[in-house]
Amino acid sequence: LARSGEKDDFAGETVLVTAGGTREAIDPVRFIGNRSSGRMGYAIAEAARRRGARVILVSAPVSLAAPAGCEIVPVVSAEEMRGAVMLRLAEATIVVMAAAVSDYRVKHVAEQKLKRTGERMLELEPTEDILAETAKRRREGTLIVGFAAETENVLANGRAKLERKGVDAVVVNDVSSSETGFDSDQNAGSFLTRDGVTELPVMSKVEMAGRILDEVRRLRTVATV
Ligand code: CTP
Ligand code: CA
Repeated sequence: LARSGEKDDFAGETVLVTAGGTREAIDPVRFIGNRSSGRMGYAIAEAARRRGARVILVSAPVSLAAPAGCEIVPVVSAEEMRGAVMLRLAEATIVVMAAAVSDYRVKHVAEQKLKRTGERMLELEPTEDILAETAKRRREGTLIVGFAAETENVLANGRAKLERKGVDAVVVNDVSSSETGFDSDQNAGSFLTRDGVTELPVMSKVEMAGRILDEVRRLRTVATV
């Protein structure tokens, strides 16, 4: 299937992609996680590479094969992901954050496996917003794309995230549908920028990766004329 964008249109770019769901330890054997499979981020990494980019893929644990030709930086927690992203940010010309990052971590991680005794409360504290920090620390000209997982008021919430985080674009997904979004082969949503919205109808995550990169390419071209 030769798509129109299937050329070297990302040659000269370094694309930093985050993917997968982070894990926050509770004790040595348990963690707080989420249903992200990593497929969307991996598809974007692979497509960007095929289109000529150098790709750095910061990946939370997934059960997917590493995409050929991408540099993989494995991480587990939100804090580790943040460290890896900040370390590599200066190299990136385009950042795409498809990872599902935990919003909270456990304040006191137990050194020993917790026992089945009585009631238990976990004290949580917020993690850093990696995307917002990335947008703040970027070099001029670095294009930043976030994702937004929403279950209601999808477009309005997506637009609010775009503004709040100071990014160039947000791919919003309605994750309330079981056919698309988390842990599915398919996805659907919208590509939001300050200037408009492009519908991304239900399609495979591989196809959507191509569409997202087409939009990124367009944004970048507009930005540099
Ligand atoms: N994100 C991040 N660091 C976090 C949480 C989220 O970088 N600690 C990034 C995700 O990778 C994604 C974007 O922010 O690109 C939006 O994630 P989402 O969970 O939809 O938004 P939040 O800002 O966490 O807001 P909320 O979960 O309250 O809707
Ligand atoms: Ca969140």
